[in-house]
Amino acid sequence: MEKIIEEKKQGTTIKPIQKSGNTRKLYIESYGCQMNFSDSEIVASILSKEGFNTTSSLEDADLVLVNTCSIREKAELTVRKRLEKFNAVKKTRPHMKVGVLGCMAERLKSQLLEEEKIVDMVVGPDAYKDLPNLVKEVDDGRNAVNVILSKEETYGDIAPVRLNSNGVTAFVSITRGCDNMCTFCVVPFTRGRERSRDPQSIVEEVNDLWNRGFKEITLLGQNVDSYLWYGGGLKKDFKDSTEIQKATAVNFSQLLAMVAEAQPKLRIRFSTSNPQDMTMDVIETMAHYNNICNYIHLPVQSGSDRILKAMNRLHTRDEYFKLIDNIRKIIPDCAISQDIITGFPTETEQDHQDTLSLMDYVKYDFGFMFAYSERPGTMAARKFEDDIPHEIKKRRLSEIIEKQLAHSLYRTQLHIGKIEEVLIEGVSKKSDTQWRGRNSQNTVVVFPKENYKVGDFVMVQIDSCTSATLIGTALDYSENN
Ligand code: 5AD
Ligand code: SF4
Repeated sequence: MEKIIEEKKQGTTIKPIQKSGNTRKLYIESYGCQMNFSDSEIVASILSKEGFNTTSSLEDADLVLVNTCSIREKAELTVRKRLEKFNAVKKTRPHMKVGVLGCMAERLKSQLLEEEKIVDMVVGPDAYKDLPNLVKEVDDGRNAVNVILSKEETYGDIAPVRLNSNGVTAFVSITRGCDNMCTFCVVPFTRGRERSRDPQSIVEEVNDLWNRGFKEITLLGQNVDSYLWYGGGLKKDFKDSTEIQKATAVNFSQLLAMVAEAQPKLRIRFSTSNPQDMTMDVIETMAHYNNICNYIHLPVQSGSDRILKAMNRLHTRDEYFKLIDNIRKIIPDCAISQDIITGFPTETEQDHQDTLSLMDYVKYDFGFMFAYSERPGTMAARKFEDDIPHEIKKRRLSEIIEKQLAHSLYRTQLHIGKIEEVLIEGVSKKSDTQWRGRNSQNTVVVFPKENYKVGDFVMVQIDSCTSATLIGTALDYSENN
């Protein structure tokens, strides 16, 4: 499952871009995972050819789009609240049209038009190329809906406009959809079956980003390790492909190697990995190429075998430990992060203790922790009662968060005294005189600016830390610069 964007970036509006000749204004807000933020860049690209420039001011907009998330109930409630705000603005701008994109659009379909009178257009994640037609429909005064999920669509041929970018780091999507059917998860229903993007178009996009000055890319997918290109089509149909297709297929470790070799100075990250799909060759490829960062986001969801089974996670606690041991053996300084859900139906105190003890074993560098939220239509919603009281979910969640904070501090402290390569991404949030960047392990590092600039690779002596941030002094440019 795709990593959720930090809370404070939720709803971020794309910075304005201006293409001469465009006369209408598009305001777009994104919620949820990195894939949604990346999709909004594809949407802006498609609509810029239809006469729309983006604006960061809602009050100026002719078309308002909200790219939505359905992963937890709270994510949907946030969007419903925003629709109320849009409704208020629409009173003063009656010609303004409002569209809902993404997972909520797919989950609720035309029901959204009935429930939210303000909505003019509902567009699922595989239908963005139909936006020009849908906008025309809406212009003609009709509501427009396209929530068809596709077997092929990867948007591989659309060059996203990098609108909200720092000019240094960018996302490149490589797969869409998910076939894993974890019982709690709405994603297989909202984003459809898994398909991979042509590696050639991925390498071209990566080369283009490098030529435009970007220094780091993150390969994105709900389940990147499951990447498989055999000429197009669904992952599940690979078994029916021809002998030639099978022999020439490209898997994730091969894709990683292709990208790493195409741009040896570009930093490469990827997200998200799924324990059951991550193979040793991916870890070996990471170890082989210096420019692939030593960081793996490896959600576990629970430390209890019984709950893992009920979640349809296709691995045991022991198999997960073996994977962790192998990662540590091959890449000793690899950072690992988790997603954990607490309060899944039937979870006992013992299951919860199993999650805490799993955390003690791994000592994750970072973590994203959630209380279980029942999603309509999922297998868990059909099979189980959401029987863990809110108060217990809350208490277990805070115990997990507390443990993660202690482990994050432990991991962060291990960097003190080391000299690490940092890619400068921007100014520190706390001080104008300091740069902010990240090391290979994805930990934030701040240090005095001196004469370095955004986009430089710098060797930094790590002097001290807070629980999540390293504080250091720049020594020199890195060899990579
Ligand atoms: N309730 C709570 N958390 C969920 N996630 C996915 N579905 C749910 C749900 N129904 C979490 C998982 C996933 C992350 C992105 O969101 O931990 O990895
Ligand atoms: Fe991730 Fe499982 Fe959801 Fe797929 S079904 S997106 S692997 S949590």
